[in-house]
Amino acid sequence: MSETDIDRVIASFGEAARRSQEAGFKIIEVYAAHGFLVHQFLSPIANQRTDSWGGTDENRRRFAVEVARSIRVNWPEAYPLAFRLSATDWLEGGIEVEDAVETARALKAAGVDMIDCSTVGIGGKDRPRRMVIEQGFQVPFAEQIRECADIASMAVGFLWDAKVCEDLVSAGKADMIALARELLDDPNWPLHAAKKLGANENHSMWPIESGWWLMKRERLLSKIGI
Ligand SMILES: Cc1cc2nc3c(=O)[nH]c(=O)nc-3n(C[C@H](O)[C@H](O)[C@H](O)COP(=O)(O)O)c2cc1C
Repeated sequence: MSETDIDRVIASFGEAARRSQEAGFKIIEVYAAHGFLVHQFLSPIANQRTDSWGGTDENRRRFAVEVARSIRVNWPEAYPLAFRLSATDWLEGGIEVEDAVETARALKAAGVDMIDCSTVGIGGKDRPRRMVIEQGFQVPFAEQIRECADIASMAVGFLWDAKVCEDLVSAGKADMIALARELLDDPNWPLHAAKKLGANENHSMWPIESGWWLMKRERLLSKIGI
């Protein structure tokens, strides 16, 4: 990208934020992870530039920081602005979590409120050897960024169990959970989670037209011992 391209894209993020507000959105999350453009600037593997947008740590972060600033001047102070980062590339010579902590600090100074902590995306389709997938495998990054950069964090990726999610928020490892595929599988996951965690008595959180029927069924089933 030329300097002109860079300036145009940064300004476009600001314009998009302004249109988002006009359209009624209340939160913005910039997708700065998973190999998309902002991540390409952040990762020393992808960013091979030798001008003021690459090379040093500060230069690699410059694009993300300028995007945040451009959004902030077009986005109400009271409305949250989040960035999804790949907290590590899981690759030698790539982003490590300490680097992501510094990025989070720089983004916070530019007006960002929350970091959504994912990983990976640079380096091709093969999963990096260092990456071990299990439930909540990216939570430690949300925890470390929250702790070290003193910014709210969101945990994401392979989370599906309500109790696991509740416990990690209660323990202060993250401020929020993001779910994707679990909600495709079960769009009523939040209602089931609330019930599992002891809220939603009598299906009171459900829309009344379905909650009433589910409550009746539950009572009947319990009466006949099922
Ligand atoms: C509909 C959908 C679209 C997604 N698009 C992308 C994408 O373009 N690039 C990417 O790296 N990940 C993408 N993801 C992955 C999500 O960003 C998310 O990090 C991932 O699904 C982990 O969360 P989960 O385990 O709760 O699904 C997508 C996921 C879904 C469900």
